[in-house]
Amino acid sequence: MHIKHISLKDFRNYEHEEIELNKGVNIFYGQNAQGKTNIIESIYLLSTGKSHRSQKDNELIRWNNEESKIKIFYEKEDQENNLEVYLKKNQRKSMKHNGVKLNKTGELLGNLITVIFSPDHMKIIKEGPAERRRFVDIILSQVKPGYFYNLSQYVKLVMQRNNLLVQAKNDPKVIDTIEIWDQQLMDYGTKVIKERIEFLKLIDSYANEIHKSITNNKEDLKLIYKSSIEYKEQNEKHIREVFEKDLEKFRAIDIKRGVTHKGPHRDDILFYINDMEVKTYGSQGQQRTTLLSLKISELQFMNYETDSYPILLLDDVFSELDTERQRYLMKFIKDIQTFITCTDVEYFRNLNIEKFSLFNVIEGKIYKK
Ligand SMILES: Nc1ncnc2c1ncn2[C@@H]1O[C@H](COP(=O)(O)OP(=O)(O)O)[C@@H](O)[C@H]1O
Ligand SMILES: [Mg+2]
Repeated sequence: MHIKHISLKDFRNYEHEEIELNKGVNIFYGQNAQGKTNIIESIYLLSTGKSHRSQKDNELIRWNNEESKIKIFYEKEDQENNLEVYLKKNQRKSMKHNGVKLNKTGELLGNLITVIFSPDHMKIIKEGPAERRRFVDIILSQVKPGYFYNLSQYVKLVMQRNNLLVQAKNDPKVIDTIEIWDQQLMDYGTKVIKERIEFLKLIDSYANEIHKSITNNKEDLKLIYKSSIEYKEQNEKHIREVFEKDLEKFRAIDIKRGVTHKGPHRDDILFYINDMEVKTYGSQGQQRTTLLSLKISELQFMNYETDSYPILLLDDVFSELDTERQRYLMKFIKDIQTFITCTDVEYFRNLNIEKFSLFNVIEGKIYKK
């Protein structure tokens, strides 16, 4: 899969740009605050329906303008495709795939598949479980039909349940309603957990292999899905049964605190190197390498699921890697269309990249070099 052309109209600091892309590596370079990340953001937006750095669509529209249009032409399985998003101030954005209107984000996902990697993603390693769940959820939502739907339903049910828990504190009759809702909560929640477990199994084996080869076999990386539900076997029936017991066990505490303590919205993923937890005990270098292994595994997983590599978006991350890791990554992205942003372009000349294009970004204008 690769992008052929991007058209930006009044998006961020771009007034109007038409960009022809290389099938291989596309390097956007320039000083700070010129619009490099904005390019990455436009691709990510058409891939996932959301910006990777802003919750508010209004911020994406060029200042002093009312609307914005982004269109991406891409090739997938030898077919020409295009995606469009139209943003209008204070309105819901509208999206089209090959000219056909998309009604929900769920319909957008899975068309233009991307993997994004920026320094900000160190959060996956260093911060709380929400970052790691998000990491997994974005991947699965893109390549597993149904996952996004199951997850959205589950999240809604948890919110409803939490509202009911707050009511139940004063009105015990509400408990009966909670019990009815819980059946659905467990149905969707169990599906979410099951998909995540399957994902973790695959990504664990990829990451382990990659990490070993980056560290010359010195480090053994392990990924573990740590669920808030204490199931013993990984089949759906068993998970659901334990889920039910755990909800019962925690009901009094749930009511007391007005939140749901058990379920996939409370789960985590743990990273270990040679049986030591990376988050707490890993050096800065080990944490970075873990993230690199993880991101390369993400590409592998996408390829395994969809039979083709996704588009790789590397925002300000390349220059942060040492030469050895840069080489490793370069070797890997040989067959993957990659977008790289950086301030200094010199070292790319020594990396022997076969197919690449250079774009200089200056104040919202792109100059092909
Ligand atoms: N909605 C907007 N309208 C116009 N300019 C914007 C908008 N949002 C951000 N910018 C400008 O875009 C620039 C930042 O772009 P970015 O892609 O993050 O830069 P970088 O090249 O450092 O990656 C800044 O100059 C900022 O003022
Ligand atoms: Mg940037």
